Amino acid sequence: MDPHITEWLNLAVRWIHMIVGIAWIGASFYFVWLENNLNRVNPKTGLSGDLWAIHGGGIYHLEKYKLAPPKMPENLHWFKWEAYFTWISGICLLFIVYYLNAKIYLIAPGADMAPSTAIAIGIGSLVAGWLVYDFLCDSPLGKKPALLGLVLFLGLVGAAYGLAQVFSGRGAYIHVGAIIGTIMVGNVFRVIMPAQRGLVKAIEENREPDPELPAKGLLRSRHNNYLTLPVLFIMISNHFPSTYGSEYNWLILAGLAVFSVLVRHYFNTRHDGQKYAWTVPVAALGMIALAFVTSPYANQPSVSVTAKAATVSNVVDSNSASVTDSATPSSADAIAFAEVKDVINNRCTECHSATPTNAAFRTAPAGVILDTAEEIQTNAPRIVAQAVQTKVMPLGNLTQMTDDERSLIGKWVQQGALLQ
Ligand code: HEC
Repeated sequence: MDPHITEWLNLAVRWIHMIVGIAWIGASFYFVWLENNLNRVNPKTGLSGDLWAIHGGGIYHLEKYKLAPPKMPENLHWFKWEAYFTWISGICLLFIVYYLNAKIYLIAPGADMAPSTAIAIGIGSLVAGWLVYDFLCDSPLGKKPALLGLVLFLGLVGAAYGLAQVFSGRGAYIHVGAIIGTIMVGNVFRVIMPAQRGLVKAIEENREPDPELPAKGLLRSRHNNYLTLPVLFIMISNHFPSTYGSEYNWLILAGLAVFSVLVRHYFNTRHDGQKYAWTVPVAALGMIALAFVTSPYANQPSVSVTAKAATVSNVVDSNSASVTDSATPSSADAIAFAEVKDVINNRCTECHSATPTNAAFRTAPAGVILDTAEEIQTNAPRIVAQAVQTKVMPLGNLTQMTDDERSLIGKWVQQGALLQ
């Protein structure tokens, strides 16, 4: 498809995805908050509590019924389309970004896999994710929520590990996010909505509602509640190459998921005391620990300059030696910019150019243009982050950049990113 059209499709669908996603998650946060903050002291008959609130220039009074009002209102608002549209737009986005350009975004760099295979694995993982999850919830394990939670968590970590073996880091992350999103929407569609419909129907027919469905619905909404924060991180994760670009990207994701669930737990339980207040500092420390273990400085890539590079650099040695700072290990292996420019020309500018030649791009991706020496120098820190400290660029390693070339660039930047 024409890259300009994909870009605008991406824009439109992503925008919609965000809007409906905010509406869905916003409503669900609001109702959790409402439930936790209801005034339950001396409720009026038939009510389980009420709440006064002021917002946007109006004062609101909300009442929650123990079961239902004596007469069902004509207009009862159901929250479901927010969830359905979030999923539909998300799946569209998966196609537009990852499946239309599977070689660039989805398949692990260097892997010899047909796009159709990768797409089948991707879609298969969503279907399998839901089926396994639904089966586990309805199995006897469903009666032991804590154990079930642990099993589900380990299952998702296993999925992250497996996907990371066949997909690029960001492809693996987005599929874990899509599996979780599919589970959440499946919960709304297959369990929560039927439970709510059953409840309303029973009330209308003056019957006792079947207690089993609402209990199931409650378990599933609780899962949805805890899954929101991890899924939100995954949706923004492609801005953070030190997470998905790491060799242990699946473990880092597991860590981030645990910390976000801890924080969610505090907010869910805050209304009955500070018993779980410890979770917030623990999560904060965990995040700092993750920042530390993913740090490129904790784990410097070994700098091995090719013999060829060393020879070339000797030529310019007399110029660079005077300007390079003390970081220069020895003037003999100073890197010549000409070498760096060659690497960038060979490996990057097919995409990162004012006029990309790669058919998937009409304009430079992320606005990063690396045509001229000055452009390369200005972007040096970003180049190091993307192509040296992590290997997320070149995308899909389509241009087959070698480790020696990465080291060469790393060293050039260490030496001050000079243009000589
Ligand atoms: C096949 C095309 C392609 C090649 C080749 C490529 N890139 Fe990229 N690059 C992209 C795309 C697409 C993005 C935008 C990523 C996104 O959607 O988040 C990007 C983003 C970037 C960014 C910006 C990341 C940020 O958000 O700060 C940098 C820096 C970058 N690339 C550097 C490089 C370097 C250095 C090379 C060569 C070693 C390279 N790229 C090769 C496609 C490519």
